Amino acid sequence: METYQDILVDRPQDDILLITLNRPDARNALRNNSLLEITETLCAAAADATIRVVVITGSQKVFAAGADIKEMAQLDAIGALIDNRPEYWKAISAFHKPLLAAVNGYALGAGCELAMHVDIVIAGEGAKFGQPEINLGTIPGAGGTQRLIKTVGKPLAMKLVLSGEMIDARTALAAGLVAEVTADEHTLERTLALAGTIAGKSPLAIRLAKEAMLKSFEVGLEAGLNLERKSFSLMAASADRKEGIEAFLEKRKPKFSGR
Ligand code: HXC
Repeated sequence: METYQDILVDRPQDDILLITLNRPDARNALRNNSLLEITETLCAAAADATIRVVVITGSQKVFAAGADIKEMAQLDAIGALIDNRPEYWKAISAFHKPLLAAVNGYALGAGCELAMHVDIVIAGEGAKFGQPEINLGTIPGAGGTQRLIKTVGKPLAMKLVLSGEMIDARTALAAGLVAEVTADEHTLERTLALAGTIAGKSPLAIRLAKEAMLKSFEVGLEAGLNLERKSFSLMAASADRKEGIEAFLEKRKPKFSGR
């Protein structure tokens, strides 16, 4: 397993890869190197058929406190324009396998945006979400003005981005930013259990379902339904669908191959 500076990478079980953000002295601030390491890890996970699901987590106290303010402060306008960060974010959003986050503590700025890049967020009850960039005299830079409004709607997104105020996990749950709230000490355990459930499904069906659902953010209903129909039809050619249906009829557990 690769050694990194800003993250820890583990295999809590064979088919799950766990990325732990690990810059405690900087409250897991996401400097460029952190995003590079996450991207490299995801790229390797995408190519490794034994990995079915990736989980990202932080510490009990902080998921990630945003972009690294000290690093960002060095960037002038042209530096920000030619920066690699947008490419890293693009790579994270293009990851085709399920990506889950177990969030405890603060998920602020780019930390909140990272949570919005994943497919399913499970939050501890003490988690806090916010886009505090306005307090620094700037605005979100990793999709916060776009994904947040599409996820939680205009009133709450405007409140968060324009005031810099944080919301707690229960509010995030009610708003649809997170899928589930757990006791703080069980967040990772519950997220890994959910990851395990997903890892047992057909990776092909999971991939096409994820792709079709994410497309709904970009295209109109008709185009989305067309993609769904084509992917649904494609699954009829798969060994996984055959196995899933046969297993159901034979009253046994399916064994999906991803073909
Ligand atoms: C760099 C950070 C940091 C960050 C914390 N630190 N957040 N360093 N980037 N985003 C550093 C502090 O400078 C400090 O370093 C150490 O971590 C501990 O921070 P404290 O504030 O003392 O910790 P705590 O009291 O536990 O409070 C945690 C916190 C707070 C609530 C998360 O640190 C905080 O509000 N952080 C900033 C959150 C934020 O504004 N995020 C948006 C980032 S902006 P030293 O060296 O003093 O020990 C963004 C894009 C725009 O995402 C950037 C434009 C410049």
